[in-house]
Amino acid sequence: MPTARDIVDQLSRLLPPERVLSAPSDLEHYGRDWTRQVAPAPSAVVLPGSVEQVQALVAWARRTGVPLVPSGGRTGLSGGAVAANGEVVVAMDRMNRVLGFDAADRRLRVQAGVVTESVQREARARGLLYPVDFASRGSSQIGGNIATNAGGIKVLRYGLTRQWVSGLKVVTGTGDVLDLNQGLVKNATGYDLRHLFIGSEGTLGFIVEADLVLAPQPPEQQVMVLAVPALEALMPLFDRLRSGLVLGAFEFFTDQALSHVLAHGGKRPFQGSAPFYVLAEFDADDEAALACFEAAADAGEVADGVVSQSRAQAAELWHLREGITESLASRTPYKNDVSVRIGEVPAFLSRMQALFQREYPQFEVVWFGHLGDGNLHISVLRPQDMAADRFAAECGRVTRLLGEVLHEMGGSISAEHGLGLLKKPFLRYVRSEEEIALMRGLKRVFDPDGILNPGKVVDL
Ligand code: MLT
Ligand code: ZN
Repeated sequence: MPTARDIVDQLSRLLPPERVLSAPSDLEHYGRDWTRQVAPAPSAVVLPGSVEQVQALVAWARRTGVPLVPSGGRTGLSGGAVAANGEVVVAMDRMNRVLGFDAADRRLRVQAGVVTESVQREARARGLLYPVDFASRGSSQIGGNIATNAGGIKVLRYGLTRQWVSGLKVVTGTGDVLDLNQGLVKNATGYDLRHLFIGSEGTLGFIVEADLVLAPQPPEQQVMVLAVPALEALMPLFDRLRSGLVLGAFEFFTDQALSHVLAHGGKRPFQGSAPFYVLAEFDADDEAALACFEAAADAGEVADGVVSQSRAQAAELWHLREGITESLASRTPYKNDVSVRIGEVPAFLSRMQALFQREYPQFEVVWFGHLGDGNLHISVLRPQDMAADRFAAECGRVTRLLGEVLHEMGGSISAEHGLGLLKKPFLRYVRSEEEIALMRGLKRVFDPDGILNPGKVVDL
């Protein structure tokens, strides 16, 4: 493998030299994502400006054996965009143009480096909606969203990113450029390779362009936050709200999670407190909301609650849920992001809470997530008196215990954060040996030299 200096020299002949970065601050900045557990150590960072330049980088990597790490907004939480072993980070920041809009197809063609919030703005400007949404919308890029099949807070109504991608241009690990599905609604011509790249975490190819389908704007939305006195009330409440309202989101957090947001400037939604809270977003309907609330209160499913009366209030309520990650960030939590079938959420929750109490009473465990999707985020905070390496080892054990329960329940060890570096070792809990062997076979087809995002998803 060439030295870091040789790598920078060679790359500077391939790309305009100002697009090749090697200052320690750049290596630090581009070498990591929002996962803080792994130290970045790339050899260099490059900022290609065209598909041809991406192809040239792939050809160079195949010649030299220096691997490439595709990089978007780096908001991932499993280490999928971390370059920890001398790789070259290929950041898509400069490929950030909107390429066109087709009104009949409601199709927006974008380069991979367009930020999610810009896509949402472009859609709004045309009276439409790009419905994939999450707290990191201001930094995450569409290429990264597609590479991780991003979920977020609107999955209940709109599904995952996969549903909104009608075409993809990719550069594979062999340097081939593939134009997949070209924005078609119907295309019954064999294997749909587009879907292999969605969620592949940059291990099969670079996503360089995408066709995104836009949705009609929904009616005005309202938000309610409800205090839920007992675990057993969560699913009956979900059923009640989805029968009585047109529901767009059904999110959940514990009182402990709320306390972190309140400590960071969040506003308490009402006086009373409860062990659990639910945030529901729905097509505005004061009357139906009140009827649901009253019926839920009579059934003992809610102890208190508030319904937004303005957009500002709705945003304030959303902040109680969306602000959790930021409020925990300074504690560098160890995150698990799991899913079970929706009906099994209460059983899973009580099983895991009992397990944490029994095995790890000293850990503060913060629970929140997308309850309507069966997706729970479990953030474990390091006790002040525990050394970082012991904490990391214990958290590995926590994930193995989780893996065993999820294996038994047919759940997933990563619902929406991907495998990255952190969750790859736990893949065997939720995918069979045969399935993993087939995934490896696919990796060999698209990236025979193993130059794309090594150490993520599967090995060659
Ligand atoms: C969320 O739902 O807020 C995100 O997935 C981030 C997180 O799990 O911390
Ligand atoms: Zn989430």
